[in-house]
Amino acid sequence: MFSLDGRVAIVTGAGSKRGIGRATAISFAGQGAKVIICDIDLDGVMDVEGIIKAKGQEALAFKTDVSSAGDIQKVVNETLGKFGKIDILVNNAAINQPVKVIDMSEEDWDRVIAVNLTSAFLFCRAVLPSMIERKYGRIINLSSVAGKTGCISYGGAHYCASKAGILGFSKHLVQEVSPYGITVNSITPGTIATDIRGGLESEEKQMEISARIPCRRFGRTDEVAAAICFLASEEAGYITGEDIDINGGVYMD
Ligand SMILES: NC(=O)c1ccc[n+]([C@@H]2O[C@H](COP(=O)([O-])OP(=O)(O)OC[C@H]3O[C@@H](n4cnc5c(N)ncnc54)[C@H](O)[C@@H]3O)[C@@H](O)[C@H]2O)c1
Repeated sequence: MFSLDGRVAIVTGAGSKRGIGRATAISFAGQGAKVIICDIDLDGVMDVEGIIKAKGQEALAFKTDVSSAGDIQKVVNETLGKFGKIDILVNNAAINQPVKVIDMSEEDWDRVIAVNLTSAFLFCRAVLPSMIERKYGRIINLSSVAGKTGCISYGGAHYCASKAGILGFSKHLVQEVSPYGITVNSITPGTIATDIRGGLESEEKQMEISARIPCRRFGRTDEVAAAICFLASEEAGYITGEDIDINGGVYMD
């Protein structure tokens, strides 16, 4: 079940040491996919490429700023040139910033929206022509519980707005691409043990935050990667416009 054998997958934001993107890229490769790893962090993507290749699997790393249409087109062109197709796109790269609206500059707002939301539009626009032509595609966009509730322990309104935007963008895209065998779904994590909140919290802080989570712990990146792998599989072909909450019960809708 859920083999990704022979699939070609792009994962953005896959460079960080203990991030969801890295776990997803390694998991995809383990299931047989050729993985294109994009991140603004060159050392990070080279590291992940090395880990995947050391296991005898195929990977290709790109230093990519996902807010740049030019960078994105380069990734897509080179992927199509080398592998001939793109089956799976995971829009995972994101940034957050703990700043109140009254202190937020327009540059702060624009940067977070560009990296977290406009990037998903730009990447989808770039991969869709080839997916439509082949009548196959799996798009998975990373939202956040903050897009539904506002940030609780760390972050800003721009982050929340971008993550709420991902949900609307994903649902609209379903209307446009479903006739072509392309699914579009989102994943909405709660608190996962990564560095996105300005570094992983101390054990003490983790316990304090976990007390408010029904499962009483942070989520793990492999738990998020598992759901992404499922949505990326051929077997999930009739699931589209869905959003999967992975939050230990902290928010239910
Ligand atoms: N960790 C959590 O608790 C949590 C909760 C909800 C949602 N999410 C979402 O999950 C996704 C992955 O986050 P994570 O927790 O693994 O964070 P992370 O910080 O570990 O990973 C984010 C990655 O995005 C990359 N990135 C930042 N700006 C970029 C740019 N301009 N171009 C390309 N890459 C860029 C970073 O270098 C980093 O590798 C994000 O979309 C995030 O919003 C995470």
